[in-house]
Amino acid sequence: MSVAAGAGIALGASGLGAILGATGNTLSASKTTASAESGDDVIPLYGEHQPGIITPQQTYLYLASFRVSTDSKSDLVSMLKDWTKFCDLSVSGGTMMTGDNPLVPPTDTGESLDLPASKLTVTFGFGPSFFRDGGKDRFGIARLAPQHLKDIPRMARDNLDPSISGGDIVLQVCANDQQVAFHAVRNLIRLSVGTASLNWMQEGFASGTPGKTPRNLFGFKDGTANSLHDSADGYDRIVWAGDGEPDWMKGGSYLAYRKIQMKIETWDRTSLSDQEATFGRFKVSGAAFGAKGEFDAVDASKLPADSHVALAKQTKQQIHRRAYSYTDKVDPRTGNVDAGLLFISYQRNPDEQFIPMLRLMQSKDALNEYVSHVASGMFACPGGLREGRYIGQNILEA
Ligand code: HEM
Repeated sequence: MSVAAGAGIALGASGLGAILGATGNTLSASKTTASAESGDDVIPLYGEHQPGIITPQQTYLYLASFRVSTDSKSDLVSMLKDWTKFCDLSVSGGTMMTGDNPLVPPTDTGESLDLPASKLTVTFGFGPSFFRDGGKDRFGIARLAPQHLKDIPRMARDNLDPSISGGDIVLQVCANDQQVAFHAVRNLIRLSVGTASLNWMQEGFASGTPGKTPRNLFGFKDGTANSLHDSADGYDRIVWAGDGEPDWMKGGSYLAYRKIQMKIETWDRTSLSDQEATFGRFKVSGAAFGAKGEFDAVDASKLPADSHVALAKQTKQQIHRRAYSYTDKVDPRTGNVDAGLLFISYQRNPDEQFIPMLRLMQSKDALNEYVSHVASGMFACPGGLREGRYIGQNILEA
């Protein structure tokens, strides 16, 4: 039975247990009225694949990376169980806040009370250091590391900041309401206290009319080519890992992440024709050069050889992109805004699909003049979760 549908779950000593610990209280699942009225807003947590990978993009993203700070496998398992329980509750608009003791802090931070589930998804990924940290097999799981999980190799034009790259665990939290997304990430952070620490967190947005491709901060439609594999067979070919992988990775995928700063001030001083030649697509329609509609076939011979799309085509590989824009601080020296793309792509085999593409683009992409890659990460996202199981169970109890 789903936790969200149940009532009253006894908890262990860590995580949720710690939040409740002083009271010896139990966690009760409760659904808010708003969410109960809007079932369309719920993306199920359980299924063959994790949500948030081929799920149509929600408007808001938090990407949070954690370092596991304990060497205790049982503490790690408790945290993952608490995370799973919390996700079960929150994706259906539930709250941990019922029957709280007034003398201790509330179990749930409360800012999503009365808000609908808003298509909240939490997607879990594990980094190379989760399996082997500085040569150490902390949790006895090194033998279960998936075939292609390694940090993205250093690229010629990298300008990476290690403090916002990599991590043991990544959570991709997406929702159509920013407050719902933040509530989830905030409470997942609370539940990690004592077991894992937050390395870094990024916040993104992708506004688009439903059914239409969102535009990035260069004003171009970003994600058009995903339509090329938008079928069960296409996702099997491009996204879902399987052959030669450990069991827990079947139906899972690799998440490749790059934080890419976009020099919007330089771009805004660039002529429309140069902007379009950078991608090989027209800005307003999104059509490739030589074509009329956004989704018309691309004839690579009609695109400038160094254009972004021509280079992607040259690799003869496809990936599933799910990028979000970000905006951050102002550089006090120049007055320029730090803005860009939280590039996220999912693929079955990054060694074959993603890394050669990134390498080729780094060497000659016309886009390079306008971008700088400042953070990086590669994570293995397990296959989908079954009710009653916790995320990572197939790894930690294999
Ligand atoms: C700030 C950085 C980037 C921007 C602004 C950007 C933007 C775009 C745009 C506008 C398109 C054309 C429309 C579409 O198919 O979505 C596109 C296509 C594509 N991009 Fe990027 N992109 C960036 C980084 C990357 C990176 C790092 C990769 C992978 C290494 C990548 C891989 C692709 C691929 C595979 C396509 C589809 C090409 C096709 O088959 O038609 N992009 N990108």
